Amino acid sequence: MIDRRTFIKAGTIGASVFSIGGLTAATATQRTNRAINKPIVISTWNFGVAANQAAWEVLDGGGSALDAVEAGVRIPEADLSNLTVGKGGYPDRDGHVTLDACIMDHQGNCGAVAALEHIAHPISVARLVMEKTPHVMLVGEGALQFALENGFERERLLTPEGEAAWKAWLKEGKYEPVINIENESYTTDKLPGNQYNHDTIGMLALDSNGHLSGACTTSGMAFKMRGRVGDSPIIGAGLYVDNEVGGATATGVGEEVIRTVGSFLVVELMRQGLSPRDACREAVERIIKKKPETAKKIQVGFLALNKGGEYGAFSLQNGFSYAVCDTNQRDLLVDGEHVY
Ligand code: GLY
Repeated sequence: MIDRRTFIKAGTIGASVFSIGGLTAATATQRTNRAINKPIVISTWNFGVAANQAAWEVLDGGGSALDAVEAGVRIPEADLSNLTVGKGGYPDRDGHVTLDACIMDHQGNCGAVAALEHIAHPISVARLVMEKTPHVMLVGEGALQFALENGFERERLLTPEGEAAWKAWLKEGKYEPVINIENESYTTDKLPGNQYNHDTIGMLALDSNGHLSGACTTSGMAFKMRGRVGDSPIIGAGLYVDNEVGGATATGVGEEVIRTVGSFLVVELMRQGLSPRDACREAVERIIKKKPETAKKIQVGFLALNKGGEYGAFSLQNGFSYAVCDTNQRDLLVDGEHVY
């Protein structure tokens, strides 16, 4: 609940709760002899608080990280007031709501769907792709066919609010992302039709068995070109999990995350010894290095969790928050560090 949550600065966590710095693959293995902060679940943005609570129900009952992340991200997927994930998501520029999602478990199994229409819970379809097919990703009509064949209900996803915002947007048709609009009020009356952005819920969990999993789901950039797919369903870009090291997820303008294979990069940096926070920072710096002018105008944030249950985040712009839930704190919302 908003009024119960704790909201603190990220730096405080690094200093007072988690003092351990880098983590190499070797030290990750040795960690069995050290205190591991588990179970734990973290996720992007303020809507992550409610999502974490659903994930925590699973983790606290001894459930798997995989079940936890699926249950967790289904909360914003079902939330009609969330304009950037699931059923409430804004449509593309032709009025179609198209959803992207992926999921990855501790054994390196993964599944994804992209440009999926008419199905409210793309994360569950992604999990089924992982578990029931020899493939990793299904897209568009094929993903829809697969979902329907497996009992998912076909729904109209375009909400009256989404339709109204799209029609208002059509009048001007600007195509310029607005930084952090997803962290503002989700009421359309406060969103002028030409202001849009997106974002993703990315969630990472470490269960009581020490297994990591992650999930990532979004409706993508509002009023995007038909067929546009961002980073969120792409393993390595929007999400990556390596059970030896840790997991990472991304939010923000997906094109820049894809260009840097951002989540994979964060995990590999943790493997080399960086803390989750420093690995996220390095990935953000990589975006700036590649496209310095673009980076000033967009938002991208990374969130990471290592095998020891330590977490961290970094973003380009101010305003990126993330939610944390573990045995010490159930509804923590952290104001992430940023470059600009
Ligand atoms: N990060 C979500 C997207 O770009 O679609």
